[in-house]
Amino acid sequence: MTVYDLIRPILFSLEPELAHSLTLKGLRWGSSMLSSANQDDPRLAVEALGLNFSNPLGMAAGFDKNGDVPDALLKLGFGFTEIGTVTPRPQIGNPKPRIFRLIKEQALINRLGFNNNGQRLLVDRLEQKSEATRKLGVLGINIGANKESLDRILDYGAGAKALSPYSDYLAVNVSSPNTPGLRGLQSGEALTAIIEQVRASMIREVPVIVKIAPDLEIEELEEIAEVARKMSINGIIVSNTTTERPIASQDQHKNEEGGLSGDPLFEQSTRVLSQLYQLTKGQTTLIGVGGVGSAEDVLKKIRSGASLVQLYTALVYKGPGIINKIKHDLVELLERDGLQNISCAIGIDA
Ligand SMILES: Cc1cc2nc3c(=O)[nH]c(=O)nc-3n(C[C@H](O)[C@H](O)[C@H](O)COP(=O)(O)O)c2cc1C
Repeated sequence: MTVYDLIRPILFSLEPELAHSLTLKGLRWGSSMLSSANQDDPRLAVEALGLNFSNPLGMAAGFDKNGDVPDALLKLGFGFTEIGTVTPRPQIGNPKPRIFRLIKEQALINRLGFNNNGQRLLVDRLEQKSEATRKLGVLGINIGANKESLDRILDYGAGAKALSPYSDYLAVNVSSPNTPGLRGLQSGEALTAIIEQVRASMIREVPVIVKIAPDLEIEELEEIAEVARKMSINGIIVSNTTTERPIASQDQHKNEEGGLSGDPLFEQSTRVLSQLYQLTKGQTTLIGVGGVGSAEDVLKKIRSGASLVQLYTALVYKGPGIINKIKHDLVELLERDGLQNISCAIGIDA
């Protein structure tokens, strides 16, 4: 029985977004009481994107949209955390309710639509503490475009200009299903223009990675791999939520509009990851995300081509204890498989 086993029924009795904001408040309040995470087993260390990660497990974007709790997340044991998505101007997002739990499926559907406080407030916050946070682990920032923006490409440039001084990497989000037209920016031409804009606007040179959808056809993946090669994109996050519904049960929320995350996304996002690993011939760092909830899942993503792995939905269902459990079990899996360290497993199944 963990503390989260007691807290979860209370959180799940609340509307999902309220539960989330209370969780953030709790983490913010408790952060100073958390000590730094225990030293990770050296076999879990990963060198990727020119950065050192003490373990390959990261907090995916969307949990900490406004940079409220990066320190707490790193202290809980993540090797890295990704703030955002943040847009140049504050944005309220879509009408509520806009997050739905599919409990039997261990899944969520969200159509938040980039609700966030905007990059100005985030800059103010990080100006005070990003140095201290980055001592705890790797800090990424995920940037997006405002829904009503007249020039979305310029929005990505604005994000890069404002936030590159405070981040270890920038993630360009062109894959949210909840901002109309955003996924169109995954085309070769648009992606090239965004990367050029981001690189030209950065004040501090940091790795630039792109986050893609799991709903892409092979031709679209080929185009992305080609842009990655031509533009020397540092990494690709595979993937965001899916607009498909690979769900057998008749959950009451199954047909809510939005992006599906959690267990049912695992297979599809891992297949795309493996395809992209083959297309990029292992030349681009890949970050696997989608339905990860155990050390087996993490290892599967890594064996399919990921150097790093992120999660979100499993944290909602299983609580923060999952972080240390995954790391502990990963070491056991490495021993079982006779692997010297986690990086030896990258792409061995692809
Ligand atoms: C409530 C919610 C909000 C999210 N918001 C964002 C976001 O702002 N930016 C982004 O790139 N991804 C966002 N995501 C997607 C996650 O980062 C991740 O790619 C996806 O949920 C798949 O991982 P999971 O199955 O471990 O949750 C969000 C996911 C959820 C569930």
